[in-house]
Amino acid sequence: MSLLLDLLLAIVAFLGHFALAVWLFNRLHAVPWPVKRIKILERLLLLVAAIVAIAFAVHTLLAGGLFFAPPGWNLWKLYAAFSLVMAGLAVPLWVLPKLGERVPAALLANETQVIDVEAKLGYAPIAGTQARVLARFPGNEYLRLSVHRKELRIPGLPPALEGLSIAHLSDLHMLGNLTEEFYAEVVAATQALSPDVVCITGDILEHPACLPWIPRTLGRLTAPEGRYFIIGNHEKRLPAVAPLREAMVAAGYVDLGSRTEQAQWRGEPVWLSGSERPWFGSEPPPPDDDRMQDSRALRVLLSHSPDQFPFAVQSGYDLMLAGHTHGGQIRLPGIGALIAPSWYGWRYAGGTYDLGSTIMHVSRGISGKQSIRWRCPPEIALLVLRS
Ligand SMILES: [Fe+2]
Repeated sequence: MSLLLDLLLAIVAFLGHFALAVWLFNRLHAVPWPVKRIKILERLLLLVAAIVAIAFAVHTLLAGGLFFAPPGWNLWKLYAAFSLVMAGLAVPLWVLPKLGERVPAALLANETQVIDVEAKLGYAPIAGTQARVLARFPGNEYLRLSVHRKELRIPGLPPALEGLSIAHLSDLHMLGNLTEEFYAEVVAATQALSPDVVCITGDILEHPACLPWIPRTLGRLTAPEGRYFIIGNHEKRLPAVAPLREAMVAAGYVDLGSRTEQAQWRGEPVWLSGSERPWFGSEPPPPDDDRMQDSRALRVLLSHSPDQFPFAVQSGYDLMLAGHTHGGQIRLPGIGALIAPSWYGWRYAGGTYDLGSTIMHVSRGISGKQSIRWRCPPEIALLVLRS
């Protein structure tokens, strides 16, 4: 009986240890530290978590139990007790919110179409050893573009903007693991949706060798009411971000990084802001409605990280577009995303959310540093605004 109880406690303690490691991993990628420091800490965290887990399992097996054998207290029992507390904390912080997840009423419709880029091209547009190895991973969906048409209800939407469509792209991660042809397919699929507006929410480029792709891919995308972008944390890996910003502006995009500007969509005034926090610049200044005739002008915030959601709510934005969390990239059946680089963990990994009177759309993104997506295909979203 005590052996069975010991085994059960050891399993729960192991889950607590795993939950703590995931919690730390997600927060580590939400802070604005230098890339090198994050990489070192990430490896250290994974190494320590793995060594402790293996040593914990070996000790439990060799000792013939955890709490009941051998008698008395030792370091492993103390760590097991700590891990049990972590597992206990995971219930209110993780399990209960997961069970309470819902699709917000603001998401009126969501139609999906899948484009198998490998089948369309007749070859896999990948390069490099990592991408080739991961391409063999069963069920890897990273070449299966998921094109969504989502209707979002925006309370108080001006009548002129009824039905306006925004193509939301994010996290393209042009670094060379996917070839330029893949991005040309992304652009073609987006253009086929005939968007009125294009918004790109960061992590566009992370290797300078891919900079010439910008005019040949994103530069060919057109939208009658405007194209906008911000950059994300992976642009920290570039030697300099100015060439990317210049290439995007030369390709016809408006740089919204740390800025707020007035625009006209269908002749209707709108406020557009961009936040690249916590990695670049400062929060954009709040829209100044006094300078506008119509105080109910639509307010849209582009933010790489969904962690700026409370900022968007406080600043009165109607719609916030974000990326960064990639949907988790690997979504386990019944559990969903585990790894999501955010202070909120998996909560804003991908999808539509509402808080106060702000709607947030978090894109699963197009690619990622690791060429793996399981039950989490890359996403092109066309957001159709409804009143
Ligand atoms: Fe990203």
